Order: sequence, then structure tokens, then C-alpha cells
Amino acid sequence: MATTDRGHFGSRLGFILAAAGSAVGLGNIWKFPYETGENGGGFFVLVYLVCVVLIGFPVMVAEILVGRRAQRSPVGAFGRLRGEESAWRVLGWLGVITGFIILSYYSVVAGWSMNYALMSVVGVFTDRAPDEISAMFTTLYGSWGINVFWHLLFMGMVVGIVIGGVKKGIEAWARLLMPALFVLLTFLVAYSFILPGHADGLAFVFKPNLDKVSEKTFFEGLGTAFFSLSLGMGALLTYGSYLRKDDDVPKSAMIITGLDTLVAFMACMIMFPVIFSYGMEATQGPGLVFVSMPVAFSQMPGGIALAIFFFLLLFFAALTSGISLLEVVTSTVVDQLGWSRRKATLWTGGLIALFGLASAISGTEWFSSNWQVLFGGKNFFDTIDYLASNWFLPLGGLFMSVFVGWVMPRDAVQDEFRSGSTWGGLFSVWYFFLRFVCPVGIALVFLYKVGALNFLLTK
Ligand code: TRP
Repeated sequence: MATTDRGHFGSRLGFILAAAGSAVGLGNIWKFPYETGENGGGFFVLVYLVCVVLIGFPVMVAEILVGRRAQRSPVGAFGRLRGEESAWRVLGWLGVITGFIILSYYSVVAGWSMNYALMSVVGVFTDRAPDEISAMFTTLYGSWGINVFWHLLFMGMVVGIVIGGVKKGIEAWARLLMPALFVLLTFLVAYSFILPGHADGLAFVFKPNLDKVSEKTFFEGLGTAFFSLSLGMGALLTYGSYLRKDDDVPKSAMIITGLDTLVAFMACMIMFPVIFSYGMEATQGPGLVFVSMPVAFSQMPGGIALAIFFFLLLFFAALTSGISLLEVVTSTVVDQLGWSRRKATLWTGGLIALFGLASAISGTEWFSSNWQVLFGGKNFFDTIDYLASNWFLPLGGLFMSVFVGWVMPRDAVQDEFRSGSTWGGLFSVWYFFLRFVCPVGIALVFLYKVGALNFLLTK
């Protein structure tokens, strides 16, 4: 294998920006709130938080450490650490396939945010009733032409940036736009306090409500945690492969996890007060952010400008996440097949864009009604989102925790954990979580989901 210099992040902040840019995205602002709505609020939020802290954070440290130790993208990383014949390389390929699938529909949702930014510029939300605004999303969802257009445009942008190399372009933009997103969200959280439904909205998000608890709550809580943290498919492993030995991995992981969770919670603290103030449905699914936010903006002084900002920043957050997804697939092809970066990016990006066409048209009447017959009530888009986030990512995380916790030699893991870190003293605690809490926790959620734990619940 050619020993080209893979390059490293330009600064210590570079990695944190890129990784936080990967983590913070549609998962926090689009997926987490609508899953919270569908799963009845508070208790789901608590499950999510527990999954983030007890499972997500330890797995994140493990993923980044593997990347930094191996200095390779996922498949090559397992090959390098366990030998080129090792079956662990399959785990790398699982990640690549998962990234391929996720990006294919992620791009469609990112397209919606671009469409909404444009709609805001034109001012279509001004003086509209909530029902009318909600109908706009339904129309968009069912229009294949618009979805295909934005999907291809978004994929084109992701491909363009990944060809240039993640580390160059993204650092400078993320440095500016991530804080901007944060400021805007802070303002909107503050604004939500004056809404009449503020107290009800917050109670929905923060008061554990046991009415809707089922195996679905745990399964989707875990999956959403993995999705929003960018875990379980080697994205952070790949970014970790651009790190140096003197970078502080545990501390960086803590910052990324903290920011990601904060943004997810802020999104809910904005959206549910709006939903309760204007009598909207909390259970409306993937359209939630695209309906609730325009309703809020339509009533707000300066709403048009804020709406433009909001959807542009959401689009940007999606872009930095989309880049990390493509980077995994592309860098694997570069590392494994020895293709040039340009050729690999064009091919992988092109295939993902092609596959994503199915998600782009999945809201249309004929495709959704025919697919739903095949797969119990979910359209194509919902089906692959469900499989990738709730099954593939936690499965990847399960194997990752087993790999680092049980297969890699303890000395190597300890050495890697401590290298560059001021948190070396926490090694044993982290290692315990990784070896026991993470695999057992994920396995229990899976077993509960498939009905293998029902005997515990029957009195
Ligand atoms: N975490 C991103 C979000 O919240 C999406 C994402 C980017 C992702 N890279 C990933 C999800 C890798 C899973 C795995 O929007």
C-alpha cells in the first residue's frame, strides 16, 4: 500500500470543528424533535440522554481512538490493527454501506431545508394560517421534481467539497457558521418564553411521561442518539485518522457530545412551545421542523429574516454532516482501491445520488402506496432511515465497543487513550463502560425490541 501522507487537521480546533460539524445536523434539529413528538415526549428525551451519556460517549472515544491509532479509514483501520485477513474488516464495510444509505436520504432532507430557505426569501409564510403552512410541507413531500432537484444539488455540493479535501474548506466555514447557528438557536429559545404554550411545550419535553413507553422508546432513543452523534459507522473514526498523537481525544469527544446534545435540546425547547401554542400535532413525523418553525416565523417580528437565517444555517449544518458521510465512503475507496480522490468522490457521490432518487420520490402517491404494502406502513424513505439509524448504527457501536474493549490489547488502548490527554486518569472508568455497559446496553435494547425479553414483563 502506498504510504502517502494522509494529512492532518490544521489545528486542534480543526478536528473539533469538523467532528462537531459532523455531529450537529439534521439529526439534532429535524430527527430528534420529531422522534420526541412521536414517542410522547419526556421519557423518550430521558432515554436519549441516558443513551448519549452511558453508551454514545464511550463509543465515540473508542471510535476516534481506533481511527487515530490506525491512521486509516474504517476497513483499512481494522485490517491494520488485526491483520488484512481479519473478519473485523467486515465491520468497516458495514459502516461504509450504512454511510452510503444514510447520505442517500439525508440529502433529500437537506434539500427540504434549501427549499424552505428559498420559500422564506420569497416570503410565502407571511400571514398564513398554521393549516396552510402545514399543507405546504405535504405538497413538497409529494412532489418528486422539486425533491429530485434539491437532492441532486445538495449531493453536487457535498461532492465538490469532498473532492477538495475535508480539511481545507470546512474548517473556515464551520468556524463562522456553527457559532452563528448557536446564537440563532439561543435567540429562538429566549423568544419561545413569550409564547402562550411555553410551559406546556417544556413540560412535554422534560416531564417523563410513561403513557407511551414501549420497546420502541428504547430502540428509537438509542438509534437517534447514535444518529445525532454521528456514531456507529466510522465517520468519527475517519476524522480521528487525521489526528495527531498529541490531540486530546477524551476531551474532544466530551466537547462534541456536549455541543451535540445541547443543540438537540435547544431544538426541542424551541419547537414544542410553538407546537403547543398554535395547536399543532406533536406526532406529525418528519415534517415537524418544516411546519412548526415557519408557523413561529410567520407570527414573529422580523420573521422573514429569521426564517431565511434558520433554514440556511440548517442547510449548512446538514452540509457539514453530509460531508462526513461521504468522506467515509470516499476515503475507503481511496485507501482500499488506490483510486485518486477525485475519481473516488465522483463515483461514490454519483452512486449515492442515484440511489437517493428513490428517497426523493418516496413521498409521491404511487411510490409510497406501493412500497407501504411491502413494508408495513412505511414508505421507502422511512424504511431505510429506520433500518440504518436504529439497527445498523447501534450494531456498529456494539461491535466497536467489543473490538476496543475486548479484542484490542488493553495496553494499546490505554496508551492511545492517554496519549495527548489530560484525562488519562479516567481510563479505567471509561474502559469499564466500554467493555460492559455499552455492549450489554445495546444488546438489551435489541433483545427487548425483538421480543426476547417479554417474559420479564409478563406478571
Ligand atoms: N450526526 C449527523 C446529524 O445529526 C448525521 C451524520 C453525519 C451521521 N455523519 C454521520 C449519522 C455518521 C450517523 C453516522 O445530522
